[in-house]
Amino acid sequence: MYYYPHLNRYLDYHKQSLQDIENFWDYQGRIIPWFKRWEKVLEKNHPFYRWYVGGYLNASYVCLDHHLDSIRRNKIAYYWENELGQTESVSYLELYNRVNAFANFLKNLGVKKDDVVLIYMPMVIDSIVAMLAVARLGAIHSVVFSGFSKNAIIDRIEDSKAKYIITATHTYRRGKRIDLFPVVKDIDLPYIEKIIVLDRDGNFKEEGKFVKWNKDLEFVYVTPEIRESNDPLFVLYTSGTTGKPKGILHSTGGYLVYVASTLAWAFNVNDDSIWWCTADIGWITGHSYVVYSPLALGLTSFIYEGAPDYPNPEKWWSLIEKYKITEFYTSPTALRMFMKYGEDHIRKYDLSSLRMLGSVGEPINPEVWTWYYENVGNKKCPIIDTWWQTETGGFILAPFMGIIPLRPGYASLPLPGIEVDIVDEKGNSLPANTKGFIVIKKPWPGMMLGILNDEEKYKQTYWSKFENMYYPGDYAIKDENDYIQLLGRADEVIKIAGHRIGTFEVESAILESELAAEAAVIGVPDELRGEIAVAFVTLKEGIQSNEEIKQKILMKVREVLGPVVVFSNIFFVEKLPKTRSGKIMRRLLKSILTEKEIGDISTLEEEASVEEVRKAYEELKKTLA
Ligand code: WT7
Repeated sequence: MYYYPHLNRYLDYHKQSLQDIENFWDYQGRIIPWFKRWEKVLEKNHPFYRWYVGGYLNASYVCLDHHLDSIRRNKIAYYWENELGQTESVSYLELYNRVNAFANFLKNLGVKKDDVVLIYMPMVIDSIVAMLAVARLGAIHSVVFSGFSKNAIIDRIEDSKAKYIITATHTYRRGKRIDLFPVVKDIDLPYIEKIIVLDRDGNFKEEGKFVKWNKDLEFVYVTPEIRESNDPLFVLYTSGTTGKPKGILHSTGGYLVYVASTLAWAFNVNDDSIWWCTADIGWITGHSYVVYSPLALGLTSFIYEGAPDYPNPEKWWSLIEKYKITEFYTSPTALRMFMKYGEDHIRKYDLSSLRMLGSVGEPINPEVWTWYYENVGNKKCPIIDTWWQTETGGFILAPFMGIIPLRPGYASLPLPGIEVDIVDEKGNSLPANTKGFIVIKKPWPGMMLGILNDEEKYKQTYWSKFENMYYPGDYAIKDENDYIQLLGRADEVIKIAGHRIGTFEVESAILESELAAEAAVIGVPDELRGEIAVAFVTLKEGIQSNEEIKQKILMKVREVLGPVVVFSNIFFVEKLPKTRSGKIMRRLLKSILTEKEIGDISTLEEEASVEEVRKAYEELKKTLA
């Protein structure tokens, strides 16, 4: 390796940060304003870690009030635009006014400290107002992605006992109106007290527990509820390897310190930044890097309500030019889609405002990395590949400010205060160029508080595989310079367009069709979405496989899980390959579909079923041909 001064300086700084992480994070805690300073920076009760114990703050104060005495008072917090070309912008002062007014409205409806409020909203400024208003009252938001189905919402309400739902009449996508309120309208759960609806077309009628969110609410100052650092700010559900999604619970203090720090470290954002993170607020990326960190740092952000390539593939690039975006953060799936359209639509626009380009959600293949670097960044912008998870709160790996040498396809090095390693099954460190499991070896402030209502699952999912190391569930490999490349999930979770789906959840949805006897779902590589689902299904006695049955099953999955799950195919088989103990051999199904060696099949129940899967594979090849 050549001598790279910045890399060596970064490595020194990083090493120093790890010598005494408590001291390091104690200092870093001052990145946000506190009402009262913490007494103890870290309290360890393994595997529960509590940061900034005894510190008091309020997230909406951190994001809003605190900027009002500075030059940021009249600075734009958000620019917004939608597919219809409608625009809106809010300054920090205006956002503060709207959040107070809406917090007062919620307060009058009975929302109070520690209540769970479900938010099912499109990408509009009002959704951010809703999140911050909930936080101002010391309540806990549970944002559910607006593409999710009614069933997904019901599951989340049942688990979190949410008392309120905030939604909107509709959103737009690809020129079509998509109704949101009708999705939640008939949810009849006893704990739901009010459903608050943003009336976007003036046709909404108040009735019973349906309350209209009046846009012209009067400003009333609401005192921000004082929260202890470890009081939860929000719960966000994510898929796991079992049927039920896990309610990941995040803290207030540690979370805010972590997201603000990591955004500044990774992207070197400044007061002159115009930041665009394309994630929806329904995902952790939206929580951390559309809402909380840009506001805590006092940045100007842009948000967009609509599809990336509608009405044409120029849309996003035209927005970068129009709003003079300086840092742009998106997903490999979106980039792969744009790659397909060619470069001409990019060249039409002046993208010279860009300084940094980011990527998240799935591994970015070197071809896509290079395409992004050359065509979007004009070879001038570092690619900030950020590896992290819903559970980690913020970035774990990312090339610090883009000042260290970049390597296509590598999420590079851990950020300051973070210690990671690549280990084998037993937890032993692996040498360079050997595939293993990535682990995090020291606690960090952005780490989740736990899983809502499920201490056991928290311990078992993240802390039981290795002793004293956090297990994220990803494969990775490092090079001679400790640069890390991610190699996909090591568990039964697939990533479709960067969205996490447990194969078990999809299987359960298939079984809900009442047509299938058994189902095995695996992820297979997909050029556009990274991975997509393939299902192997055995049908119930007397049911004949045909196109209609297939459609019915697909519809059921859509109904239960929403449009997030995309299938390449559903194969009907007589039997599924199983181990002698009855476990479906998904790995075998996968190796057949991806033309890998089958490996040891001696644990299979019967050889015959393998032949069937092979037959199914031949069919797939025919379909694709
Ligand atoms: C999983 C977490 C992190 C916010 C968006 C997704 C995969 C995430 C990368 C990346 C390779 C990545 C991992 C991780 N992942 N970022 N830069 N390179 N893989 O959050 O839904 O919680 O998913 O996404 O597999 O474990 P999530």
